[in-house]
Amino acid sequence: MRRALIAANWKMHLGRRDDALRFVRRIRHSVGQIEGAEVVLCPPFTVLPELGEVLRRSAIALGAQNMHWSESGAFTGEIGPSMLSGLCRYVILGHSERRATGSADESDEAINRKVHSALGAGLVPIVCLGETRTQREGGETDAVLRRQVSAALAGLDGAEVGHCVLAYEPIWAIGSGRPATPVEANRTISLSLRGFLAHRFGEAVAREPRVLYGGSVDAGNIEAFMGMPEIDGALVGGASLDPGFVELVRRAAGTRRTAD
Ligand code: PGA
Repeated sequence: MRRALIAANWKMHLGRRDDALRFVRRIRHSVGQIEGAEVVLCPPFTVLPELGEVLRRSAIALGAQNMHWSESGAFTGEIGPSMLSGLCRYVILGHSERRATGSADESDEAINRKVHSALGAGLVPIVCLGETRTQREGGETDAVLRRQVSAALAGLDGAEVGHCVLAYEPIWAIGSGRPATPVEANRTISLSLRGFLAHRFGEAVAREPRVLYGGSVDAGNIEAFMGMPEIDGALVGGASLDPGFVELVRRAAGTRRTAD
């Protein structure tokens, strides 16, 4: 049975020490008491060390939102894998807000290098994948996702694939208040992600990685997503920034899961 995972993507919010500490102190106790779902907070880099201290004896884990693939070098403004590995356990890679043209312009190849470096540094990559609205309307979702996942995981062996977390985040659903339907998300994950993994790495490996859904998840819809057999959790943006996040985690953990 894959363990449920709720990952909070704070994006560029709560990055000031006092704000982050106040929020985490508010939710830490209640979230820490919930069994049945692993919880990862992914704050801005600036507060990772502080939150690491506050959460040291807590069940809540930490993740970063990005990293460079190199250990060190002339990369102004970047942060390397081993700088993070002492601070957090997870790292989000290839979020659509970083893939976007005019933002960080991250390519599939860059994401693949990051995945290799993250695993090498003992970090668990949360690899984000998803189609645009235009691609969806053009019937390209399956092709886009297979291309993204194939590129992101190129060169990994089955054990490494099993160690990764994938996050299916349709771009049109992010921050829009209009999530994919749970049935649609489940079908897409099954067909395009696990289907691809089964084809490339075999059925047994395809069942290993946890696959999250992300895009307008909140406390009101989390149970429907968690009830789907191929969905092991959620990557949560906006709804992870207020105390209602505790209720979201509680409902996620309480939902009976049917995944193998
Ligand atoms: P959202 O963001 O929950 O605010 O839609 C999810 C994400 O971007 O990871």
